[in-house]
Amino acid sequence: MASITLDKLTKSFGKQTAVKEFSLEIREKEFVAILGPSGCGKTTTMNMISGLLEPDSGKVYFNDKVMNEVLPGKRGVGFVFQNYAVFTHMSAYDNIASGLKVHRVQKAVIDKEIEKVAKLLKIEHVLKTNAGKLSINDMQKVALARTMVTKPEILLLDEPLSNLDAALRNIMRAELKRIHLELGQTTVYVTHDQVEAMSLADRIAVMNFAVLQQFATPDEIYRNPTNLFVADFIGSPTMNFFRGTYKNGELLLKDFKGYGIKVSSKYKSQIDKQLKNEDIVVGIRPEHLKVIDSDDVDKSGLKAKTVGYEPLGSETVVYLEPEGAREKIINSLMDSDFKTDLHVLKGLKFEEEDLYLFDEKTEKLVLKF
Ligand SMILES: Nc1ncnc2c1ncn2[C@@H]1O[C@H](COP(=O)(O)OP(=O)(O)O)[C@@H](O)[C@H]1O
Ligand SMILES: [Mg+2]
Repeated sequence: MASITLDKLTKSFGKQTAVKEFSLEIREKEFVAILGPSGCGKTTTMNMISGLLEPDSGKVYFNDKVMNEVLPGKRGVGFVFQNYAVFTHMSAYDNIASGLKVHRVQKAVIDKEIEKVAKLLKIEHVLKTNAGKLSINDMQKVALARTMVTKPEILLLDEPLSNLDAALRNIMRAELKRIHLELGQTTVYVTHDQVEAMSLADRIAVMNFAVLQQFATPDEIYRNPTNLFVADFIGSPTMNFFRGTYKNGELLLKDFKGYGIKVSSKYKSQIDKQLKNEDIVVGIRPEHLKVIDSDDVDKSGLKAKTVGYEPLGSETVVYLEPEGAREKIINSLMDSDFKTDLHVLKGLKFEEEDLYLFDEKTEKLVLKF
């Protein structure tokens, strides 16, 4: 299997910079997700890895070998797109075989390989079926099988599940994970869906506006998002953000009528050292912001009005409007048995350990408490 190194890949289309100085080191057998909103440059990056697109500058290496001049067909990559182009007039079997026939593989070998891959993907029973008559799920599996049967060292998957409905997506996600564990191909997986990236990948490369924001394990990205974009993009419901200023060891929240959070001394020196600007954004994830009775909050405590709640079965999302703030809704994740009236004032509770501090100007994380 191959490792992949991207060194300052840059690609523009006219005035539009699609990918800017993108550098990444993907280990052999690693499963890496490239995650970001639509239009941020994910597909362009993939196409430069596969060789379908030539970068304006920068280099692509497989195992320390420069690939820039190597044709796509000679790179040893297999790829599957969102729009799995299966040949609908052929059987599933012939579709899968087509990947091997171009390599002039013998019929007996093809049969054996297809048997193996069909078993792996659990599509043995549809091999004789006309591909046009398959369920979307099986069609996507056939597209995957056709690529996998060629045994590429590198597997590139560009939003391969986004045409499937939610239930099938979950099943396929589990299958992909299982197959990856079994075959260990170096895999790059493009998605705009954070759940897919979090559940599948060993490491996630988060992109926005053509630029890599952070490359780390799902856990690290969730716990230590490098900037406001990553903090906002990862996690559902999303992290709450409060604008404010930092003065003399106190976080003064504009969104809560200037409510001040005194930081403990161990953090104060860190903040004083690292925070360059006075304007800040304080972040807290919904699961760490708890709704309590307003009587249990002292006079100066955080208060917010309930404006809605969604019981989700295993938990309840509560939407609140900070007291004195307009057009700002925050969310709190409570237990499934949480009940409340709407339009009543509640208290909010959190631990210092669960706060994030961002510099408002640079948008960078200053401190995870
Ligand atoms: N062939 C192209 N011609 C012109 N602009 C393109 C082309 N391909 C991509 N772009 C632009 O480059 C940016 C990144 O596109 P893309 O890599 O497809 O994003 P993503 O896959 O993350 O949705 C977008 O603004 C898109 O409009
Ligand atoms: Mg795309």
